[in-house]
Formats: sequence, C-alpha cells, structure tokens
Amino acid sequence: MNFYSGWGFRESPFQVSALAATDEGSRLFVGRLDSRQKLEMRLASGDRIVTIEGVNGVGKTSLVNVVAYLAYKKHVDGRGGPLLIPCVKAFQLDADKEKSELVAEVYQEVAQSLIHYAEGLRAGKLADGIKPDGALAKWLNSPLISSRTGSVSLGLPTMGGGGVGIGVGGSFNTTEGFRGSGIQKLIKDTLGVIFAEAGSGGVVCVLDNLELLQTSDAVRKQVEVLRDELLTVPGFRWVLCGAPGIVHGVVSSPRLQGMLYDPLEIAGIELKSLEDVLSSRLSVFGQSQAYLPIGTMDFVSLCDILKGNLRAVLGMADDYCLWVAESGERPVTDIDKSNLFKQWLDDEIEKYFKSAESEVTQTAWGVFDKAVTKDGGFSPSSFAEFGFKNLQALRPYVKDLERAGLLVSTTDEIDKRRKTVSVTPKGWLVSEARIRSQK
Ligand SMILES: Nc1ncnc2c1ncn2[C@@H]1O[C@H](COP(=O)(O)OP(=O)(O)OP(=O)(O)O)[C@@H](O)[C@H]1O
Ligand SMILES: [Mg+2]
Repeated sequence: MNFYSGWGFRESPFQVSALAATDEGSRLFVGRLDSRQKLEMRLASGDRIVTIEGVNGVGKTSLVNVVAYLAYKKHVDGRGGPLLIPCVKAFQLDADKEKSELVAEVYQEVAQSLIHYAEGLRAGKLADGIKPDGALAKWLNSPLISSRTGSVSLGLPTMGGGGVGIGVGGSFNTTEGFRGSGIQKLIKDTLGVIFAEAGSGGVVCVLDNLELLQTSDAVRKQVEVLRDELLTVPGFRWVLCGAPGIVHGVVSSPRLQGMLYDPLEIAGIELKSLEDVLSSRLSVFGQSQAYLPIGTMDFVSLCDILKGNLRAVLGMADDYCLWVAESGERPVTDIDKSNLFKQWLDDEIEKYFKSAESEVTQTAWGVFDKAVTKDGGFSPSSFAEFGFKNLQALRPYVKDLERAGLLVSTTDEIDKRRKTVSVTPKGWLVSEARIRSQK
C-alpha cells in the first residue's frame, strides 16, 4: 500500500508533475497573481506568440495550464474574454525529430483537445442560460465534432456549410495517420473557421523546455522553420517556455521580428504564498484527519532555502516523507515533527555538500559564493564583479560548477549580457551548508 494512503491521502500530495488544466490544477495553483494577469492579457490579445522564461521546475508549465484553463472556464461560463482552449499535451523541440513529425503530433493533439473539451461541455457543463455564439458556437457546431453516439468523427466543411464525415478510422489516433494526410488540413481549416476573427482566441499550445536544445541559436533555427506551418496559423495561441536566456535569442530573430512578446520572467514563488502550497495540497488530496510528518513552518523554510523552486521543494518533501515511512518513525507533536525534519535536512545538506566538495576547487568556490548573492542569476559578461579580467577567464569555473551540478547555464548568442547562469536547487542546498559552516 502507498504510505500516503495509510496517512489519509488519496494521492501523494507532493507530486512533481506540472499542474494540469483542470479544476484540480486550478485549486492547487497558488500565488503569482501578477504573472497570471500578464499571461492572460497576452494570450487574449491578438496573435503574437507568448514567451516565458524561468529556471527548471519553477512553475512555468503549471502557470500556462492553469491560466489557459481559467480563461477557458471564464469564456464558456459566459464571463467574457476570448475562447482559449488548453491543449491536452505540451510539445518539445527535439533536434532529432523531423519537422513533419512534430507538426503531425501538434495537429493530432489539437484535434483531441477540441474534441475533449467539447465533449466535456456536451456532457452538460455549459452553465444555465449560456447560449453559445461567436467562436464558441462555431466550435461546438463544427463538423469536426459530431458526438451523437459519443463517438467522434472528423467532418469536412462543405460549400453548403454542412459537414461530411470522413472515414479516418484508427488513423485519427496515431501520429502516422496525421502525417502528410488531408486530416491536417481539415484541422487547420476548422481552426480557421472557429477562430476567424482576430482576438477570438485559439488552442493554447506550449512548446516547452526549449533549453533542451542548449543554445538560443539552435532554438531560433527550429522556431523559424516552424513559423509558417504552426506558429502563425490562426487558431493557435502559442507559448514558448524555457530556461533564462534561451527564449530571448528567439525573440530577437529578424525572421520572427515583432511576432513574439518579450519573455515573461517567472521567479520562485513568493514567500507569502508558500503556506498555501501545503494547505491546498492537504485539502485537495487529504482526508480530514490526514497525517504528514512535516509542519507548515518547516515546509516554508525548505522553500526558502530552495528559493521558491517548487519542483525541488515538493521532491524533497516527498523524499522526507518516504524516509519517515521507511524508518517506521511517526512524530506526532509539532516539536517532534520539526526535530525529525531538521535532523533529516541537516543530513541531506551535508550529503550534497560532501559530494560537491570533492569536485570544486577553491577559486570555483569563490565564484559560487558570489553567484548565490545574485538572486536572479547572472551573465558571464559580468566577469569583473567576480574578479576576473575577461569572460574567458571566468568561464572554466562556471563550467566546473555546472559539472558539479551547482550552476546551470544556457547560451544566448545574441545578447551576451543576458542572465543565463543560475544556481540549481542542489546549489542552494550546498550554499545553505556553506552558510551554516561559517556560523
Ligand atoms: N503556482 C503554483 N502553485 C502550486 N504548485 C505549483 C505552482 N506552480 C508550480 N507548482 C508545482 O511545482 C512543480 C513544478 O512546476 P512546473 O512543472 O510547472 O515547472 P516548470 O517551470 O514548467 O518546470 P520545467 O522547467 O522542468 O518545465 C509541479 O509539481 C507543480 O505542481
Ligand atoms: Mg515545464
């Protein structure tokens, strides 16, 4: 039995996957009011591509999913705004993937999204008194969606405005079936019909984890190639997400001039929202008597050490709970919980520090200690602040620290002054160890 169910939870409260575009995802989402408003405004206005930058695990994908979902709910509940439909899957650029494969995958998932959400509405979720018009009516009446029997077929809009079902059979469910076929064109045409008016919305699609391609130059080239086939097609609302620095090089590409918004920069979650992260997970996943061996204060102090990086915080909280479950301990009072957590955290921090210590030289430690004072990351071109004569002199130490897993960097070839180097969660733990050892 999963130990969390023994503690009164229906699922692990510390799952590290991105929050979904669902009611549950929105209940779990806390804080970030400013970013939510900015993202919603960008998605709602016109057709420019939205971009988001932030370190791994900070909450970029969750932000897009939840904002898109809430905007969708707002529209279908008759509270205004454009019709934004979250895509059921996020996409990634992959150096080895053929362009046609990605395009086929996108069209397939977009079709699934149009069908999935329409089925949800047909199952009675359209609020009383809402008479669909505009994009909503065009979507629900679109020949793409005919669910008389609950099954879905694809329909081709005809000159007369009616729909002709086409026999797509199993091919509809495979990427292969979408590649080079007329289905892609059908979906594209359907999107064009539903979202004919500028600003009427679209399916919110995410190109995620752009940093996997390493340099902003590599990302820019791929994005340029996808420009006409995917990124500027009416009915898509694209969001590009990546680590700091990686999106900026794409935004400044001449071939994409003016097509992208400047990146929304997402930092660690604000301190005042941290308590809500734990309480929302307790209320969504736990029964009334659910037990956790970690209290709010310690959860918040862990968030503080990890600078609000929620993936790292949730992962560590989960590690701690597993450790407690395996050790057979069951602290009950706040003080016992706190003592046990502190003992575990001390050991973890020590472990991370010991493993880094053997890999990092004295000079590199100097660079690291400076790097942690730069909260939002730093640019390699700020070498003088690190006491180096030029960028080349600083770089090997940054590389050493990257190898030790304490820093992470991307390359923005266009603007070398961009803050492309940041401290990793492991780095923040090691920094905590160094601070403690100096006390
Ligand atoms: N605003 C939030 N409120 C509560 N939990 C959140 C919030 N944002 C993110 N999370 C949680 O933090 C974790 C990381 O979020 P997410 O996957 O969205 O980050 P990311 O920046 O997209 O990561 P990556 O760079 O790896 O793609 C997830 O477990 C998610 O549930
Ligand atoms: Mg993500």
